[in-house]
Amino acid sequence: MQENKAKNHRVIKHPILPAEAPCDVSIFVDGQEIPAKAGEPIAAALLTAGIRIFRQTAKKGYPRGIFCGIGRCTDCVMTVDGQPNVRTCVTPVRAGMKVETQIGLGRWAE
Ligand code: FES
Repeated sequence: MQENKAKNHRVIKHPILPAEAPCDVSIFVDGQEIPAKAGEPIAAALLTAGIRIFRQTAKKGYPRGIFCGIGRCTDCVMTVDGQPNVRTCVTPVRAGMKVETQIGLGRWAE
């Protein structure tokens, strides 16, 4: 299985689009700190960090990540600040969020 490792895939310079604002917050994904922009979808921060696997299916443990990108399919759900089944493609980043790869149906934090 592919291992999640943070990289930086943000577009720094583009010939047409204006320069992107720099990352202004950090979030923690499976304990690893990654840079993000407050208000962008969690999934966007993960993808630009090179993270493609967001959860594993309940029965066979297959990896899943972004599919629809509009909050309909639930392939992107992760455990966020102890709450399972958060759709990361439509949930905005807040500073210091703790995001975890969800295994199966997830568990609530105790
Ligand atoms: S990718 Fe489909 S709900 Fe997030």
